[in-house]
Amino acid sequence: MKLIHKLLNLVLPLITLLAICLILPFLSIFRFVHWIFRYLFPENLKGKVVLITGASSGIGEHLAYEYAQKGAYLGLVARREDNLREVADRAAQLGSPDVLVIRADVSKVDQCKQFIDVVVNHFGRLDHLVCNAGIGVHCAFEDAPNVTNFVQVMDVNFWGSIYPTYFAIPYLKRFKGKIVVTASVAGWMIQPRGSVYCASKAALIQFYDNLRVELAPNVSITIVSPGFVDSELTRGKLLTKRGEVEVDPVIRNMVHGMPIESTVECAKAIVAAASRGDKYITEPWWYNVFYPSRILCPEVVDWSCRLVHSVMPKTP
Ligand SMILES: NC(=O)c1ccc[n+]([C@@H]2O[C@H](COP(=O)([O-])OP(=O)(O)OC[C@H]3O[C@@H](n4cnc5c(N)ncnc54)[C@H](OP(=O)(O)O)[C@@H]3O)[C@@H](O)[C@H]2O)c1
Ligand SMILES: *[C@@H]1O[C@H](CO)[C@@H](O)[C@H](O)[C@H]1NC(C)=O
Ligand SMILES: *[C@@H]1O[C@H](CO)[C@@H](O)[C@H](O)[C@H]1NC(C)=O
Repeated sequence: MKLIHKLLNLVLPLITLLAICLILPFLSIFRFVHWIFRYLFPENLKGKVVLITGASSGIGEHLAYEYAQKGAYLGLVARREDNLREVADRAAQLGSPDVLVIRADVSKVDQCKQFIDVVVNHFGRLDHLVCNAGIGVHCAFEDAPNVTNFVQVMDVNFWGSIYPTYFAIPYLKRFKGKIVVTASVAGWMIQPRGSVYCASKAALIQFYDNLRVELAPNVSITIVSPGFVDSELTRGKLLTKRGEVEVDPVIRNMVHGMPIESTVECAKAIVAAASRGDKYITEPWWYNVFYPSRILCPEVVDWSCRLVHSVMPKTP
């Protein structure tokens, strides 16, 4: 048995490298032609039914406006009902024929079942499920006085997407719908003091990459990786080490020293990618350079993150 593995260790990399060299030129042509096709014939969203979680602010709010401009019916979910109503009014002005507001906490499985049912009963169908609700964390792992303070990050960011997806699948299959999920660049890159947040986003990416296989070809999945985008989260609204969501002015100032994308631009790019049926979108695009960097030069990534970590002010 040991011999087999020794042999595979030697032979498999060579065969794989050879296969990649042979396949890659054809794959690139296929990719290009496929992209052109999707670019020229995107989905027409007029009259489609779109459910967005986390629509009360930030990226989710602007996704609502973008889908509204394309003439889609909307179901908007979040906990702050007043904010949702304002978003709904503006979405209606922008062109959505009917907007439904549903107050719900995505980390509660019963509420997720309920809002999927409410939307399908009201509109009679579901075409896009946008799992966008999430909370940010910026905290050195050992600084939390109680490790269970981090549990809600998984509950909202991971389970808060998985629950609605589970209940929406029968309808998405019936109407050949789509799932759009807001992961993050943090899901595949190292972010100083981002251990739990990054893990929750990495879990989403793995989950939806696997689910895509099970649901193909009738349901497609777009995984979104935003970089820094203007929203309440990047204005410092984060889970603290005490396990409460508060605004941290230090983080707010730190993030706003960086090149930050407007929420409008981000939402436009996401809806365009979803209409084309793209599997992935990184927004802004330039964050993609971090992917090969991490694979090819992990030491450099590690050193620079350690440097950033060491000069950051202590977690408040
Ligand atoms: N902004 C960025 O730079 C950035 C980068 C990468 C990824 N992301 C991801 O983008 C998504 C949207 O975030 P954002 O940047 O737009 O921040 P945001 O303005 O804070 O929006 C977060 C949204 O999620 C909702 N939400 C939070 N907890 C919820 C819960 N338990 N149940 C239901 N809704 C909940 C919030 O509504 P309520 O508080 O009213 O419930 C709000 O609508 C998140 O998944 C975030 O991780 C953002
Ligand atoms: C941590 O918090 C949990 C949940 O609130 C509590 O049950 C547990 O006793 C706490 N543990 C410590 C060591 O404080
Ligand atoms: C996809 O949809 C077609 C037509 O509705 C159906 O015949 C087919 O069984 C579906 N495929 C899967 C894998 O569900």
